[in-house]
Amino acid sequence: MAVSLRSIQEPIKAELGTFERKFRESMKSEVPLLDRITHYIVQKKGKQLRPLLVLLSAAICGKITESTYRSASFVEMIHTATLVHDDVVDESYLRRGFFSINALWKNKIAVLVGDYLFSRSLLLATDHQEYELLQILNLAVKKMSEGELLQMEKSRKLNITEEQYLHIISQKTASFIAAACQAGAASGGATDQQQQMMHQVGQYMGMAFQIKDDLFDYGKAKIGKPKGIDIQEKKMTLPLIKALQDSDKRERRRILRLVKNHKNDKKKIREVIDYVHQSDGISYTENLMKEYQQKALDILVDFPESVYRQAFEDLLGFVTDREK
Ligand code: IPE
Ligand code: IPE
Ligand code: MG
Ligand code: MG
Repeated sequence: MAVSLRSIQEPIKAELGTFERKFRESMKSEVPLLDRITHYIVQKKGKQLRPLLVLLSAAICGKITESTYRSASFVEMIHTATLVHDDVVDESYLRRGFFSINALWKNKIAVLVGDYLFSRSLLLATDHQEYELLQILNLAVKKMSEGELLQMEKSRKLNITEEQYLHIISQKTASFIAAACQAGAASGGATDQQQQMMHQVGQYMGMAFQIKDDLFDYGKAKIGKPKGIDIQEKKMTLPLIKALQDSDKRERRRILRLVKNHKNDKKKIREVIDYVHQSDGISYTENLMKEYQQKALDILVDFPESVYRQAFEDLLGFVTDREK
């Protein structure tokens, strides 16, 4: 069985507490509405995997410094901003088990709150001359938007290949997680080579992470956000891509018609999900996810053994076994 997130956090429990205090502080606003919303965001926090990665990467390569905390806050704030915007884009009303910002305050406000969080994160970096951090993360944020837009373009035509899917998730999710690991390492005093290694570990972990997220859409677990929404958005992820790849022309046409024309028909979406479950789509996707996990582990072993490296390895297990 996988190790729990709580026990993974154990070796840096005190540091995570410090991070949370600083994170909360760095979002504060004088505008009452913004203050209410950021308060809500802090209260309904997610797994905070990215700050955990930043802190662990720093500890693996050197030590946790003030710059590490700023990197962690920066990363979590940008991540939060993208989720606030993402729920507008995906018209999704549930996030982290509660109403999304757009569900409670409508789209207009959600867009502005996302912008606010983006600019606060930039201020956090520039106020402290964290230019290395900016350089590492900005590139990833650019890739994130490109990946999202590429995915949208593909969802119009429903003609995405496995290779294109992997390219998209590498851009929209893995590059940001890779950058978080690299920035953490840099803040802890890593050499260039160590930074590149942590970047690569993060890249592989990010691939496994998004593949797991895409599997949730086909699963039964309660994950705190809506399921079946990818299909509803005509977002073709690997389980479906693989299932279609293995079916004959007629079947493929039938399934694609369901995806294309039945956005709000729960029964038709269920039919697509069932179809994927009867195919090799799920097991194929799970295997690929585990390959990425293994690739990350293979790089990590070159770092000296420590409780932090162990926690990172356990976190890789958590990412692929998690239930939300
Ligand atoms: C969700 O990320 C968005 C993706 C990149 C798939 P997380 O699953 O890390 O979200 P929270 O922060 O824990 O809610
Ligand atoms: C989340 O994408 C945003 C980014 C990865 C940039 P998704 O739309 O796939 O994620 P969830 O499922 O809503 O969290
Ligand atoms: Mg979404
Ligand atoms: Mg989305």
